[in-house]
Amino acid sequence: MKSLLHRSAVLALALALASTTSTTSAQTSAHSPIPSGNPGPASLSNPDSEKKIDELLRKMTLEEKVGQLVQYSAGQPTGPGTGRTDYADMIQKGEIGAILNIATAREVNAFQKIAVEKSRLHIPLLFGLDVIHGFKTEFPIPLGLAASWDPALIQQTARVAARESSASGIRWTFSPMVDISRDARWGRIAEGAGEDPFLGSAIAHAYVAGYQGSRLDAPDSIAACPKHFVGYGAVEGGRDYNSVEISEHTLRQFYLPPFRAAVDAGAATLMSSFNSLNGVPSSANPFTLDHILRGEWHFQGIVDSDYTAVMELMAHGIANDGATAARRAFLAGVDMDMVSSLYHDHLAQLVRSGEVPEARVDESVRRVLRVKFALGLFERPYTDESHEAGAMLQPESIALARTAAERTLVLLKNADMPGQGPLLPLSSSVKSVALIGPLADDAADMLGSWAAQGRPLDEITLRGSLARRLGSENVRYAKGSGILDGTDEQIAEAVKATQQADVAILALGENAAEMTGEAASRAFLGLPGHQQLLLEKVVATGKPVVLLLFSGRPLTLPWAFEHVPAVMACWFPGVQAGPALVRVLFGDVNPSGKLPLTWPRSVGQEPLYYNALNTGRPPGDVDLTRPPQNIFEKYVSRYIDQQNSPQFPFGFGLSYTTFRYANLSLDKSKLSAKDLNDLLHGATKPALTVTAEITNTGSRSGEETVQCYVRLQGTSVAQPVRALVGFQRIALAPGESKKVTFPLGPEAFAFWDALNKFVVEPAKVTLWIAPDSSQGIRQELEITK
Ligand code: NOJ
Repeated sequence: MKSLLHRSAVLALALALASTTSTTSAQTSAHSPIPSGNPGPASLSNPDSEKKIDELLRKMTLEEKVGQLVQYSAGQPTGPGTGRTDYADMIQKGEIGAILNIATAREVNAFQKIAVEKSRLHIPLLFGLDVIHGFKTEFPIPLGLAASWDPALIQQTARVAARESSASGIRWTFSPMVDISRDARWGRIAEGAGEDPFLGSAIAHAYVAGYQGSRLDAPDSIAACPKHFVGYGAVEGGRDYNSVEISEHTLRQFYLPPFRAAVDAGAATLMSSFNSLNGVPSSANPFTLDHILRGEWHFQGIVDSDYTAVMELMAHGIANDGATAARRAFLAGVDMDMVSSLYHDHLAQLVRSGEVPEARVDESVRRVLRVKFALGLFERPYTDESHEAGAMLQPESIALARTAAERTLVLLKNADMPGQGPLLPLSSSVKSVALIGPLADDAADMLGSWAAQGRPLDEITLRGSLARRLGSENVRYAKGSGILDGTDEQIAEAVKATQQADVAILALGENAAEMTGEAASRAFLGLPGHQQLLLEKVVATGKPVVLLLFSGRPLTLPWAFEHVPAVMACWFPGVQAGPALVRVLFGDVNPSGKLPLTWPRSVGQEPLYYNALNTGRPPGDVDLTRPPQNIFEKYVSRYIDQQNSPQFPFGFGLSYTTFRYANLSLDKSKLSAKDLNDLLHGATKPALTVTAEITNTGSRSGEETVQCYVRLQGTSVAQPVRALVGFQRIALAPGESKKVTFPLGPEAFAFWDALNKFVVEPAKVTLWIAPDSSQGIRQELEITK
């Protein structure tokens, strides 16, 4: 099973992240999932450190062993904690193995000094922090980065985050969040890579490779922590921390692959999640932690619980006291207890009473020490405080932040203006702009929901950047409303500013810290406060309007998509928000982001995702824009008051140019299931090579992310109407054509069957090369026995 799973994950990525002969995109080579230049996953264990761990284990008391499995928050808490603060004393006694939430070299060194110089065995502490989309140089939020469909770029952002955070002594980040999520109500959808397991796996791999570098013991590498294992993205109703029900089949086919990719990339640690999965809390689930993660995937690193997740086993109802909670979590496979303090309070006693074998404690301690050795903490426990400031916000990091922001912007609509072409890019005849909206001159929100050490003052806002471009006298700024509140006077001012300008740019959306990320589920996904009213009043002036949407999720704005000529999804773009937005608005850069998730029309459609099953009653040609008129229109899988289709499909994103897809060709018209199953276990070679020709038919250079999808019909388990099996970004000059090639491995045609085996079966196959998940050029082929 191991080799099969391993190959399935690696080969699928390797083959499908295929290359074209000449692209400017940062895609991978045809046969490696690891962007070029990276020598491969950093190794966690070596014979030398394992020997040292044996020696240490022989010397450690039971309490000192338990101490390695205990972690507390010593800074800005990221949830209600235990109230403990006597860390100095505990560290000296060897009762703490790791600390989270401090963020400066001085604080780190102060704690480390106690561990290394005053504790009996001198074992260094491990310091962790949520470095989610940058440390000091804030990049776009992860959902935005995913919209770049550019794993190599994401890897570079993670490398910068590693360099900066390690300079502050932080050698461990609680990132990447690789939870698949299909529900925009869930605030944490902002922290992940969207809804697709294939894209999510490529991105998971990229983050780990970026954080951990080629050597984990390099001083500027940090340990990654893919999270939250597992199923957290499927919380019922999109309500944070809620329960999850996912069949094993769906778990394996959709939710596990990004975790597998992160583990295969060498992730040193992993975080167990808050949610229950099919009734069993994930932080006490032996099936996922022990059987799959350690048994099938041979994960050697640390499993850390999420914040107080061990304590929460009592609220879940599977433990009536702290000792039982500690025992259940520990025996299921959670090595380290983040903040609950229950391992500290009970684990030694559980060993003494025989309820927990000491050998299991030794195994967990070994994993913790293994990561500390792998990071080189025993040789270099301290951080050079004199190098800290210099590592931050380096010019090349800021340049990368701007490129990243530019690539994450998704142009959703760009209508023609009467007598002219599309509204965007703004033409050079635009001399004055009304800049309106609560996010137009906002620096803090641009940094996103997990801004780590990012500071608003390092940023130039959209207003500041526009003023530099047009001269401040030509930017008529009116806030128009707050994010959540506003007055008629503010709206009247905005209308007046619009009337005096050539174009209005509205910057509307969510409050990053309060409305997106953790504990920020929403039941309504419209514009908050008075913003919808503001938008309608500004549009009513008749002036051309560009709407920039800042959000951690898709927003349901049917009115805006109908009435506003140009709309761009901007997520939260990070420290270079202003410059990146202005360059795209004026056409210095052509937008190229594509949606990493399905954008719903209304909340009632959620969860809505492209890789869904067809059902037994698909609506086919039924007109879903009106209520059913007869029984043929009624008894199909539909809403009577809403369409099934999304506002924008997964993979969608416009450009200032246009692309033509043509000449799809396959090197075979038949495949054999037997050969494909053999290939699953055998050599790394493509089962099918697909090519197509993409032409830039417009008058501007542009980048396009070409997507490859398959559908299997006639299999023993129903398969999605489409599944992404490859993508690549290509750059095309006006009029230029390029041939793209996707060498697909057997995994592109394999799935998890009813017995949870990964197999290829005879099937009718439809294959698309497409600009998004709803269109494309297609061909059919057959998989015979
Ligand atoms: C709780 C969150 O769920 C998790 O993602 C985060 O890493 C921890 N808190 C630590 O801050």
